[in-house]
Amino acid sequence: MTLNEMIFKRKSCRQFIGKPVDAEMIERILSFELKPLYPEIKVRMDIVSRDKVKCICPWTTPQLITIYSEEAEGYLENIGFLFQQMDLYLQTLGLGVCWLGMGRMNPKTTTAVEGMKFVIMLAFGHPKGDQLRHDLKGFKRKPMEQITDEADPRLEPARLAPSAVNSQPWYFTHEGDAIHVYCSKKGSRLDAGIALAHLYVSNEEAFRFFKTDHVADLPGYTYIGSVTL
Ligand SMILES: Cc1cc2nc3c(=O)[nH]c(=O)nc-3n(C[C@H](O)[C@H](O)[C@H](O)COP(=O)(O)O)c2cc1C
Repeated sequence: MTLNEMIFKRKSCRQFIGKPVDAEMIERILSFELKPLYPEIKVRMDIVSRDKVKCICPWTTPQLITIYSEEAEGYLENIGFLFQQMDLYLQTLGLGVCWLGMGRMNPKTTTAVEGMKFVIMLAFGHPKGDQLRHDLKGFKRKPMEQITDEADPRLEPARLAPSAVNSQPWYFTHEGDAIHVYCSKKGSRLDAGIALAHLYVSNEEAFRFFKTDHVADLPGYTYIGSVTL
């Protein structure tokens, strides 16, 4: 299955068999190329064992992927953008995955990374049974009219994107060829990056991300950037 097809099937997995993912698959995961939103922002991704993290979830997996970043403008949406490509990729490998906003690095077993901040982690592993969705009815998401000023089928992949506590804080406006992307001030910019990742994966060739100074203010929202697809 391609990453694009996975957008319509993926689901957070919270049931795992507990067997670690083997070295050959770990190698494939680490060498999978992720496209950044901001290539100039330095990030660091590691696969770590359970003892390196603190998380109260009883189902946490034996291995997790952690990501650190420089704290530059746009770093949160950059991490959301990168890690959502990983979320989709892991599922194409037949693995289960779940973003873990609750997870922290364990200060007793890890050391701080100089000049970088820990941002978030993904739990991943062999799922218990089939964890994918089989139709769109399985997605609990806002209807199209609540996330955009104009119904636009190109935004369907973004509508289906996962977000922290399913908050779906994104809003899209149209201006000529451009789609402007906003994030609710109550929401997380990580989530805006996740929705952007789905727009990238579903329009890999045409996707272009940019920022413009001439964008309308949307009360209660932060402007994240604009795309052409
Ligand atoms: C940034 C982020 C943080 C999340 N943190 C957690 C978490 O700590 N625990 C958890 O069980 N699920 C977590 N989730 C999963 C969301 O609850 C889930 O993506 C959302 O409810 C939509 O469901 P779906 O992923 O199955 O489509 C997180 C998701 C995102 C995007």
